[in-house]
Amino acid sequence: MTTCHVWWADASTAPALGGLLDRGEQARAARLDSPDRRRFVTAHALARIVLASPTGLHPAAVRLVARCPRCGGAHGKPALPDHPRLAFSISSSGRRVVVALAQAAGVGVDVERLASARVLAAAVDDGATAAVLAPAELAAYQALPERSRHGALLRWWTRKEAILKATGDGLAVDPAAVELSAPGAPPALTGWSGPGPAPRVRLVDLDAGPGYAAALAVLGSADVSVVEHDAGPVLRAAAAARRTGPASGRRPRDGLR
Ligand SMILES: CC(C)(COP(=O)(O)OP(=O)(O)OC[C@H]1O[C@@H](n2cnc3c(N)ncnc32)[C@H](O)[C@@H]1OP(=O)(O)O)[C@@H](O)C(=O)NCCC(=O)NCCS
Repeated sequence: MTTCHVWWADASTAPALGGLLDRGEQARAARLDSPDRRRFVTAHALARIVLASPTGLHPAAVRLVARCPRCGGAHGKPALPDHPRLAFSISSSGRRVVVALAQAAGVGVDVERLASARVLAAAVDDGATAAVLAPAELAAYQALPERSRHGALLRWWTRKEAILKATGDGLAVDPAAVELSAPGAPPALTGWSGPGPAPRVRLVDLDAGPGYAAALAVLGSADVSVVEHDAGPVLRAAAAARRTGPASGRRPRDGLR
């Protein structure tokens, strides 16, 4: 059994914790407009806070490295080079920020606003299906009543993106290369035409609250147990620790136990 910890934050109420970010992250944050900046800072501060416990480091000292396998650029799947068995993934959309972590070969999480489904539906209806749905999925999509289509599409999309984030491919691989069970069925990978052999992966739908869909993918064939956390208290504790300084500041509580 693989235990995956999933931490949820509300970017609109999270305390500002930009001081926990490294220089590269701070430079990226500075280039973003609010509210993208708020989501970015909340997500990266939260990742550092929850990774502090399993790495034994202060959140600001956690070394997060992203290196694109295609172009070598400093983007793509973030990793912990000093802790290769500890996998994590970040996602944000609207007000929701989520960080997932587990002792696994790879973890991917994706949250999307329901509003994003309109953009996806327009792409599918315009015939841009090659980029979104596999042929069997398109047939299932077209058989759905109009009122269920947006929800179903978003369910497919978040499951696909979670898998592509777990493998590290991201959207460099067409989501249509990932064929899944129907949105109303238990989530499972049913076909793969991406690079290399099909990954062994466990998929779990997450409840991100009204107006959102979210999914989690964990590489491997072990069953997955998901433990969800409200990140509000750890974010507020980290902000309080920064205000009172290192003498009285404690490391924020448990990330992955
Ligand atoms: C990042 C991506 C997977 C999802 O984006 P999204 O739905 O807009 O955003 P989310 O909030 O769900 O996820 C973003 C996070 O995914 C992570 N991520 C980025 N690339 C990733 C990858 N290849 N695999 C796994 N995770 C990735 C990052 O932590 C990123 O957050 P950050 O930018 O704050 O560090 C997608 O936009 C993508 O793959 N883009 C790059 C495409 C590419 O590889 N092009 C070729 C470049 S040479």
